Amino acid sequence: MFQSPFSIGIFKRAIDRKLVSVNTHNIRDYTHDRHHTVDDYAYGGGAGMILKPEPIFEAVESIKSDICSKEGAGVLPIILLTPQGRRFTQQIAQELSRYRHMILICGHYEGVDERVRQHLVTDEISIGDYVLSGGELAAMVVVDAVVRLLPGVLGSEASLLDDSHTAGLLEYPQYTRPAAYRGWSVPQVLLSGNHAQIANWRREQAIRRTLGHRPELLDKANLSLEEKQLVDRWKQS
Ligand code: ADE
Repeated sequence: MFQSPFSIGIFKRAIDRKLVSVNTHNIRDYTHDRHHTVDDYAYGGGAGMILKPEPIFEAVESIKSDICSKEGAGVLPIILLTPQGRRFTQQIAQELSRYRHMILICGHYEGVDERVRQHLVTDEISIGDYVLSGGELAAMVVVDAVVRLLPGVLGSEASLLDDSHTAGLLEYPQYTRPAAYRGWSVPQVLLSGNHAQIANWRREQAIRRTLGHRPELLDKANLSLEEKQLVDRWKQS
């Protein structure tokens, strides 16, 4: 499941250039019974199976000691992917991109034994208010968002600055050639070569788009007085 996303594009390049490494571990490899049991019925009853604590503790402790023996003990986030976690944002991606290592635990089935939460994990992350069948896709989302922030991973670091959410606004509209397609023209200002005007137009468009699609983001965006007045005018019209 993890192989194909990490074997193409930006990821592959980053892995090949040793800017990042992603290792996947199967908790079944940390069981001691013949059937490699990783889940069991819930105490107290109820539908669904619960992931047992032992394989998860043993897997994480083994990975952790590997990392510490090579690199010494540093801060090592141990993150459980779960719909009950704090909601993932670009800000959290930036925060995570500062760590040298992190361990992500993918929950599955109906849940994870509570002792994993209480005594092993340091953080719980949800990628949104919906329930996936497991934490794997969520882990890939987190890894993708973090890896593209690492120095050298994207061709041009400048492109990060204009990303949606980096400055608390959605990104402005982008165009490429042809200048006219089916009668739809690229806004004249973008063809003008006037960089100041282009920057102004983009900023205004980013604010307008944010107002249209995600108005609640504007409360936290750093708008000038003039920009706030512009937003008020747009709201009234
Ligand atoms: N596992 C199942 N649903 C999830 C979600 N929304 N975010 C993170 N992990 C999950």
